[in-house]
Amino acid sequence: MTVIPRRALGAGQPNGSVTPAGLVAILAVMSDGEIIISGASAADIPVIKQLLVANDLPTDGIDDHWRTFIVARDGDDLVGCGGAEAHKFAALIRSVAVAGSHRSRGIGRRIVRQLLDRLASRGIREFYLLTTTAQPYFAKRGFKPIDRDEIHPQLLGSAELRGACPDSAVCMRLVMLV
Ligand SMILES: CC(C)(COP(=O)(O)OP(=O)(O)OC[C@H]1O[C@@H](n2cnc3c(N)ncnc32)[C@H](O)[C@@H]1OP(=O)(O)O)[C@@H](O)C(=O)NCCC(=O)NCCS
Repeated sequence: MTVIPRRALGAGQPNGSVTPAGLVAILAVMSDGEIIISGASAADIPVIKQLLVANDLPTDGIDDHWRTFIVARDGDDLVGCGGAEAHKFAALIRSVAVAGSHRSRGIGRRIVRQLLDRLASRGIREFYLLTTTAQPYFAKRGFKPIDRDEIHPQLLGSAELRGACPDSAVCMRLVMLV
């Protein structure tokens, strides 16, 4: 939680008014402090699908894998999501999307980090993804491009791998060191 210094909020000011620094701090809390990242519930599935369709991402398999999903909420609005097709040793990270109105505020970064942390706590160390547009974004988060024949065999049954994602999509992998 962001703590706003009492002085910035006007404590000790002659008329109790808010200082410019206080205003900046309040605006920061209003714009970022309200974004809650948490696990998805079944009730979120239709909105997750809407967000994916709006971002040209496949919705195949969401009904099977929604329990892995992380969502970002701004009040009652679902503004971001990310999920995985998780197996014993490897997971396909998928469906990472943030609403256009909420981009570049670190929401995508928080979703990916929480997703990887949760999967790692289950003992998964190899993370794969397919992307047509976000290769540089995931490269910044440690993912490296690989050939499709390097994909972990546990993921070969994935709908995304078998056709929901275009052949032109780049496959990337992150291996977490123990
Ligand atoms: C990719 C995406 C999830 C990032 O969400 P976000 O909440 O805006 O991301 P963050 O706030 O964590 O990071 C923002 C930074 O990433 C950069 N970035 C965003 N999308 C990018 C992309 N496709 N390629 C490279 N950089 C990208 C932004 O320019 C910004 O850079 P800055 O911090 O230097 O300003 C969002 O842009 C999105 O939903 N894109 C459409 C769906 C998509 O392509 N998903 C990936 C499918 S695998």
